[in-house]
Amino acid sequence: MIFCLLRTLSQKVPNVVSRVALMMKPQVVFVLGGPGAGKGTQCTRIVENYSYTHLSAGDLLRAERGREGSEFGQLIDSYIKEGKIVPVEITINLLRKAMEETIQVDDKKFRFLIDGFPRNKDNLQGWTAVMDGKADVKFVLFFDCSNEVCIDRCLERGKSSGRTDDNRDSLEKRIQTYLQSTRPIIDQYEKHGKVRTVDASRGVDEVFSDVKAILDKEG
Ligand code: ADP
Ligand code: C5P
Ligand code: MG
Repeated sequence: MIFCLLRTLSQKVPNVVSRVALMMKPQVVFVLGGPGAGKGTQCTRIVENYSYTHLSAGDLLRAERGREGSEFGQLIDSYIKEGKIVPVEITINLLRKAMEETIQVDDKKFRFLIDGFPRNKDNLQGWTAVMDGKADVKFVLFFDCSNEVCIDRCLERGKSSGRTDDNRDSLEKRIQTYLQSTRPIIDQYEKHGKVRTVDASRGVDEVFSDVKAILDKEG
């Protein structure tokens, strides 16, 4: 009798625990900054040191562009070369799917760094329409860097990245898109006290030490 009771309990307790974990609402940090500010580099460092999953909107779009049979491949390709922001219907679906798949594989992975999103009003509206109430945005981690440093870093990266947009022509357009469309989104979050700014013009280690201070404080 006691043996049966113990066996039932040991089977049930892990279930209860995992069900509670399943109910954890995704916690999101949006990671923004100019092209080449070091978003991806710092996200990699964060993942090595904290329990976050890194989802780069740009990486997801490039993967979708290369996916055989994708109906959006050509559209994404031309938007990327032109430094324009892809319609959010495409991007939000990729992000939502990636978040769901991550949680499905491991329900303890509910903390996300969403890198390069939201980059304009359309992105933000799409997020609100699809994710409002389903995920908590904790804050925006903003890598602040001059346009000149951003351009230099991307041109250097372009020597080996194989990216179709790490060239001077595309970069001029990307910087314009950043200034005209992304900065106002950062300003909007700033008004609500939700931006944590890091001076990203310094070396990788110095930048990461500020990032660590923010994450240690904010969780
Ligand atoms: P983003 O994701 O913001 O476009 P990346 O992290 O890909 O930027 O960095 C762009 C390029 O600059 C890469 O070649 C990277 O190695 C380099 N880089 C990143 N952070 C720094 C830094 N703090 N100082 C110098 N170079 C950097
Ligand atoms: O962030 P990353 O530099 O990888 O983005 C590369 C390009 O991907 C952007 O210049 C843009 O064309 C596209 N992109 C987008 N919407 C996002 C993120 C990236 O259209 N939210
Ligand atoms: Mg990047």
